[in-house]
Amino acid sequence: MNTHSEYRLESRHFLDLGDAGTDAIAAMIADALDRKAARADWPKGKVDKDAPLAGRVLALVFEKNSTRTRVSFDIAMRQLGGTVLILEAGSSQLGRGESIADTARVLSRMVDAIMLRTDNHAKIEEMARHASVPVINGLTDRSHPCQIVADLLTVIEHGKPLPGLEFAWFGDGNNVLHSILEAAGLMKFNVRIATPKGYEPDSEFIALSREGGATITMTNDADEAANCADVIVTDTWISMGQEDADAKRTAMESFQVNANLMAKAKPGSVFLHCLPAHIGEEVSEEVFEGPQSVVFDEAENRIHAQKSVLLWSFGLLG
Ligand code: CP
Ligand code: NVA
Repeated sequence: MNTHSEYRLESRHFLDLGDAGTDAIAAMIADALDRKAARADWPKGKVDKDAPLAGRVLALVFEKNSTRTRVSFDIAMRQLGGTVLILEAGSSQLGRGESIADTARVLSRMVDAIMLRTDNHAKIEEMARHASVPVINGLTDRSHPCQIVADLLTVIEHGKPLPGLEFAWFGDGNNVLHSILEAAGLMKFNVRIATPKGYEPDSEFIALSREGGATITMTNDADEAANCADVIVTDTWISMGQEDADAKRTAMESFQVNANLMAKAKPGSVFLHCLPAHIGEEVSEEVFEGPQSVVFDEAENRIHAQKSVLLWSFGLLG
């Protein structure tokens, strides 16, 4: 007889947005908006009234640096009634070569869910194969789906329903763009991508987005991509783990989001950046600090988005 069955929750991995799908992402955004509104002005550590994850523990495993992902998952778990522990690769046996498979099996006996930030997407797939608890992607070299749930929430909060929106991306065709592209196919918005030659996103994500019905345009002309766009978005030119090459910075120079570029977008457009930002590189100070910049709403929304992702991973949402 299993005396603990009343405590059993589902175990759904969230490695990419497609694991959840259109309806679940819509449910995540709706729940995030409701929970955020219900706790307006509360102290940040106060537990939501229903405490849906009371007694649950989330392990946050980091093989790369983090501020927002680390803090937002910690606060998200506290607000849902649960707790977290943080495992840094450098101070755990992962950093001495213990396998992902063994780590997944050990953590599954000790915690209720695992969030992993890693340098290689294959590692999170390996973690998910061997874990018997939900595994959540807190950024890999390939994608950053939790960030994009927060981004979509931010855009909607700023009065822009997703279907038919025109996003415009500038700079490096990186992990954040890959998740935006996946979201576009699922949530029916379009993406114009302006990158220097040789820095385009993986064609797999372009194809995925187009299969979902999104219109994706690729250009090497930043002004063309910005023209009448609803959402202007960029990210660092040099991601964690990439070689910091002068040649790449030089190639990116004409893709900076600055006042001239913003002037080409729709007057009510918003500027997004997942942060950390490099002022004077991918974005000018004027735009970053300007009235169209919603980057700190976006950062706060990591908490509200992460709560929805956690609830979905336990089968309590969507
Ligand atoms: N945007 C984001 O993921 O930030 P951190 O690297 O600080 O977690
Ligand atoms: N593209 C960046 C995102 C940081 C949140 C990186 O991977 O470093």
